Amino acid sequence: MCGIVGYVGEKKASPILINGLQKLEYRGYDSAGIATIENGKLSIVKNKGRVSNLNSMPETEKSMGTVGIAHTRWATHGIPSKENSHPHYDNSNTFAVVHNGIIENYNEIREFLKSKGYVFYSQTDTETIPNLIHYYYTLDNDNDSEEKFLKAVNSATKDFIGSYAIEVISYLFPDITIVARKDSPLVIGSGINENYIASDIPAILGYTNKFYLLDNNEYAIISKDTINFYDISLNNIKKEIEIIDWDSTAADKNGFDTYMLKEINEQPTAIRETIYSRIPMKNNKFEKCNFQDLGFTKEYLSKISSIYIIACGTAMHAGLCAKTMIEKLCRIPVTVDIASEFRYRDPIISEKTLCIFVSQSGETADTIAALKLAKSHKATTLAITNVIGSSVTREADYSIYTHAGPEIAVASTKAYTSQVALLACTAIYFAEILETSDTNTLDTLKNDLLHLSEKIEEILSRSNEIKEFADKVYEQTDMFFIGRGSDYNVALEGSLKLKEISYIHSEAYAAGELKHGPIALIEDGITVIGILTDKDLAPKTVSNIQEVITRGANTLIVTNQELSTDNYDSVIKIPDTNSLISPILSVVPLQLLSYYISMNKNLDVDKPRNLAKSVTVE
Ligand code: M6R
Repeated sequence: MCGIVGYVGEKKASPILINGLQKLEYRGYDSAGIATIENGKLSIVKNKGRVSNLNSMPETEKSMGTVGIAHTRWATHGIPSKENSHPHYDNSNTFAVVHNGIIENYNEIREFLKSKGYVFYSQTDTETIPNLIHYYYTLDNDNDSEEKFLKAVNSATKDFIGSYAIEVISYLFPDITIVARKDSPLVIGSGINENYIASDIPAILGYTNKFYLLDNNEYAIISKDTINFYDISLNNIKKEIEIIDWDSTAADKNGFDTYMLKEINEQPTAIRETIYSRIPMKNNKFEKCNFQDLGFTKEYLSKISSIYIIACGTAMHAGLCAKTMIEKLCRIPVTVDIASEFRYRDPIISEKTLCIFVSQSGETADTIAALKLAKSHKATTLAITNVIGSSVTREADYSIYTHAGPEIAVASTKAYTSQVALLACTAIYFAEILETSDTNTLDTLKNDLLHLSEKIEEILSRSNEIKEFADKVYEQTDMFFIGRGSDYNVALEGSLKLKEISYIHSEAYAAGELKHGPIALIEDGITVIGILTDKDLAPKTVSNIQEVITRGANTLIVTNQELSTDNYDSVIKIPDTNSLISPILSVVPLQLLSYYISMNKNLDVDKPRNLAKSVTVE
């Protein structure tokens, strides 16, 4: 989740590029850079830190080029540093590239290029791109031409597995830039004697409202007066221009009313970027999960007698899903603990304990303190976070990352689903090492994981059904969420979301626990939300829901089961998947429910009262 901008025209490019990047800092802000063509050469200015740092660099002042590309980064491969910042260039300084997305097979491409004599200076996946373009360009014996440049970009992108939106410039072709995309957004803004490129419309909306939206596997050669589009076979294609009428506030949020809604809608991409590289395939068959960054051995994992998952809030709820997965697939006992409790209760941990710390920000004070405690007891510590270089990653023995991009709304959404997805891959990885589950079971789960993004898209396309229910219940003062197994874990997260942003009192209960007390609170008109995605447990939960209906409850059911809809006030049908990972789907209607209720109440969805995004105090 980075931001990219480009300009081809008659004006000095650097101020336009920096202005565009500043509008995209919500996509990433750990480093930034621009490349322009100056007197027949590539000039690259980049550094760690915010975009505003570029303004104070003397090279930016000197830059006079009228063609340029720019990038603001949210680190995925390699720490935030000057070397890892974009633009990246090839060994001969002929091609410069900015990239948004993840090249999943970058290690193989890197090895291939190294065997051809290329040298790498960064830890990024992106540095393979200009070098591979250079490789194909020099392999072709034709004379220099734009067509040859395009062919080289096309050949390189065909080798990539993963997602990309890229902009490429070369001093050989000082008047153009070539762009390409797959599974990462890229738009081209059309002007008079100038054209613009961006990952997101807001970056360039101040200059034009006429846009071409590049689709997957499409390419464009852009000069100041022309934009030529190509398909993957490099046939010329025609695209329609779109007029975008957004006001400036909508533009900051990429057209969404709030960051939270934007982030809910980013979940398909966030999951794709988090897990696709973890689940490699060869010749249509799954290979073992890719966790080279952990490198655990059977000898080491066999010695682990218990696992703790320690986190706060939503991250702790993701941990609860992981407990179910790890216990089922790996047969290792897992305890999920709230960090603020763990740190003060003398937990039983030793060198035979693996402690996993889950934190979106990587800066939560209680989680960091719990991590230090675990280390002092010689436990192995593994951090799962969304922020490279954050405090938990500096403390932990091992770190792995969700690639959800910056989460700005206080209520966590895309971080949660990305955490659950990454934890599922981690559980599979452990099970493969320990040989505690059969290959068929694990392969089926991997297949289900790979289909989650499209299933979330399907749920999002039916958001209006959830809005209708929210419109009916938003004035209520108490609600209940119930479920069993994984569905109970989601009930907890749904209830937290509702409290956080709608200020409605809510409780989550294991459905079978209702009759042990809380059912006394059920009376006419109270809303009970039932989650039913586990076919083995569904009949039991159906009976519990019947018990609350009998006592007058108003029910919303989120399910992938075939239920008789007559019994319930509303049923939200979600796609089927393995019950271990069903929280990733069933939480989406609950996120939307809280969101619409909060909007109906005219509350500040992104910045709810009393809450901070990152809780860095005890
Ligand atoms: O950054 P972290 O994941 O460590 O944050 C943990 C909690 O503070 C966080 O999940 C909080 O519960 C969110 N506001 C939930 O939406």
